[in-house]
Parts: sequence; C-alpha cells; structure tokens
Amino acid sequence: MINPILLIAAMEREAKKIIHYFNMELCSNIFDARLPMLAFRARDYPHLWLVLNGKCTQHRCDRIGIRASAISTWESIKQLSPTLIINIGTAGGFKARGARINDVYISTSISFHDSNSPVKSINRYLVGNYKTHKFASLANEFELKSGAISTGNAVYTSAEQMKKINNKNVCCKDMESAAIAEVAELADIDMFAVKVITDLVDSEQEPHKQFALHADSAIDTLSDKVSKIVEHLLL
Ligand code: ADE
Repeated sequence: MINPILLIAAMEREAKKIIHYFNMELCSNIFDARLPMLAFRARDYPHLWLVLNGKCTQHRCDRIGIRASAISTWESIKQLSPTLIINIGTAGGFKARGARINDVYISTSISFHDSNSPVKSINRYLVGNYKTHKFASLANEFELKSGAISTGNAVYTSAEQMKKINNKNVCCKDMESAAIAEVAELADIDMFAVKVITDLVDSEQEPHKQFALHADSAIDTLSDKVSKIVEHLLL
C-alpha cells in the first residue's frame, strides 16, 4: 500500500536541502491559484511530498507562523491525502532543559503558549495538547532528543509565555507545529515535528542574533536527520 508522506516547512531555507536531497520537482496546479503554497514531489518517491507555506508578496517574506501553517496543512491534506505529516524546521531551545544549538528534537506532544481565556474549558481548547509520541522512538534510532514543543506567533518570548512554557516542561519553542498538529488531528492523520535548535531562549543574546549566527549549520544538521528519517519511513 502507498502511504503518502507530507513534509511541511514555513521557510524556504528550512526546506531547500531536503528538496535537493530527494531530487524534488515543483508541481504546479496542486493548490487553488489564490493560495501561495508550493508543492514539491520527489522524483524517485512519488508519494513523498514537501509543501512550503510560500511567500507573502506584500511583505516579501516567508509565510511563517500559525495562520499560514493551518491553511497549508488543511489544503495539503485535501489535495495530497497524506497518511503522515512531518513538520520540519527551526526552533528555540532551553538551556535549562539541556538544549544546545544544533540539537535536533522530535516531538512527543505539541501545544500553544500565546493564548489564554478566563474560562477553563476555552483555555484548555486554546492551549491544545496534541499527542505526537507515536513516532518518538525514532529519537533513539537517529540519535535525536525528544520532548514537548510549544508554538506561538512570536520570536520573542514574554515573561508570561516563559512561565507557561516552563510549567509545560517544553523543550522547543516554534511558530508552526501546534497549528499543523491541530489540523492533522481534525483530519485524523498522524503527525510529528522535527526541529533543530538555532537559538537558546533562556540565554542573554537576542534570539534573532543567535538565529543569524547558527541557522545555516543547524539547517544542515536538520536536513541530514530528516532525510535519514524519511528514507527509513519510506522503506
Ligand atoms: N524558530 C527559531 N527560533 C525561534 C524562537 N526563539 N521562537 C520561535 N520560533 C523560533
């Protein structure tokens, strides 16, 4: 049986090496012409897809974050019928929980940290708690770390968000995975995230300065690990 695997990335630079490694071609007419996402298909593995959120033409940047990721995921599920979704990308890590730059994490659970409501049930809904541990054993096989990931729409972390993140014992902070996990759960499709640490949130230096220093080598490490995991899953 063919089980289509879908990789989703927000930034072009997070996906470039994987697209090259799997000799992927850009496929047009996959999505509604009004949507900016790009779909790539592996020439040697026709059931391996990678979707990029695409560019915002107005601001000339990658469509990072929660909103674009939710749209990409839903539309990709409808058009490509994946049986597994893997969100790949960069994340902030936490020294306090042993993270170092270049560490690669596989998610065990994913939630949000930048929403709140005084109504407990609504708060639980907004925060979410998406279980993604089904594939976490890959961490041993591929020498990765594993743990909880938390998602918000901001690079900077407020004191309130930090408190929530610490309470949840989160290992990585990103801007996409919980949105993808929520949509995958709605559609009853397996999902996990693989994230590489480009900056340490609980350190003195500003995250974007750390990102600028470390992104290239971290994305190399991510691409190497993701290609090995995907090859293993395709076998
Ligand atoms: N991606 C890389 N670093 C990040 C951070 N500190 N916060 C959110 N997303 C990130």
